[in-house]
Amino acid sequence: MISDQLQAIDFNKKLKSWYLKNHRPLPWRQTTDPYKIWLSEIILQQTRVAQGMPYYEKFTANYPTVFDLANADERDVLRLWQGLGYYSRARNMHYTARQVVSEFGGKFPETALTLSKLKGLGHYTAAAIASFAFNEAVAAIDGNVYRVMSRIFGIKSDMLSNEGKKEFAKVAKTLISHEDPATYNQAMIEFGAIQCVPVSPNCTICPFNDICYAYAFNVQNELPVKAKKQKAKNRFLNYFIFQQGEKLAMQERSSKDIWKGLYDFFLVESAGQIESPDDLDGNETLFALLGKGSIRQISKTYVHLLTHQKLHVQFWWVTIPENVPFDLPPNIYFFSKNAIEALPKPILINTLLNEEKYL
Ligand code: ADE
Repeated sequence: MISDQLQAIDFNKKLKSWYLKNHRPLPWRQTTDPYKIWLSEIILQQTRVAQGMPYYEKFTANYPTVFDLANADERDVLRLWQGLGYYSRARNMHYTARQVVSEFGGKFPETALTLSKLKGLGHYTAAAIASFAFNEAVAAIDGNVYRVMSRIFGIKSDMLSNEGKKEFAKVAKTLISHEDPATYNQAMIEFGAIQCVPVSPNCTICPFNDICYAYAFNVQNELPVKAKKQKAKNRFLNYFIFQQGEKLAMQERSSKDIWKGLYDFFLVESAGQIESPDDLDGNETLFALLGKGSIRQISKTYVHLLTHQKLHVQFWWVTIPENVPFDLPPNIYFFSKNAIEALPKPILINTLLNEEKYL
């Protein structure tokens, strides 16, 4: 414990001395006004420092206080934001200004916990404002800081996972300077922004190259670990709706696949979009069934998004004459309209049956 503290003190000393020599004199670092710090952080969520600077200057010139921004016309705020994109951020910012005025008399709350209750303020932004404006000893961990910490201290947990975030937060809590948390946070951010850069950092001039895990093991490019977002998998589902009279053939989905326990129709999955059932040649069961009736209608292709899958779904309605004996494959049965109404169905199938005026 004592040695942890000593290490943290040593780390802080080196970090602060690096910062004092190397940091950029950015305008939001020359103020302790929480309103201006908040503005800068919202703008920097959206863009890089160089592009964000003129926006910061415009906003602080046009709306020098939170009251001015709260009283502004939303159209004017959006106009000033123009070019940054993602306009809901500007709208949220305007909303928050009004909230600060109406609920807090124009004074920003002074702790990270209370700040994080404002709209659009996550952990990072709340901690940044609380430390920069009010000197609260809370660590502001943005992407830069995750990179610095993971490399120097060899933290390999996924920075996007909840467990990972907890681990980083725990280490950050032991590191943060209680004498000068504002400078500590600015320094960590700046160190990540200009020294411990994502690609090809110049480690030979780094003040931490004697203790850095990534430098020692030459794994700068592997840290921080950021689990890749799973790309949605495309699937092509071709449903054949066999109809005899008013009855439709349906089956309960029982596999470990999607929609377990819900009812769908005779399904043939293909590797890509099909032009016609002929593209499914080789499926003996399907062709035996199709031979008993005629295709009456083909739906459009529905695109349906699930968490990790993008479904492309098309429905082929097949009329089977009532006098034709028709044996369905195992586990698929004819159901009356009333029964179908009551069956649990994927929302997509419900939509289809409604759109085609079956239900
Ligand atoms: N990015 C986000 N906050 C920042 C800050 N205070 N200084 C530099 N870059 C930042």
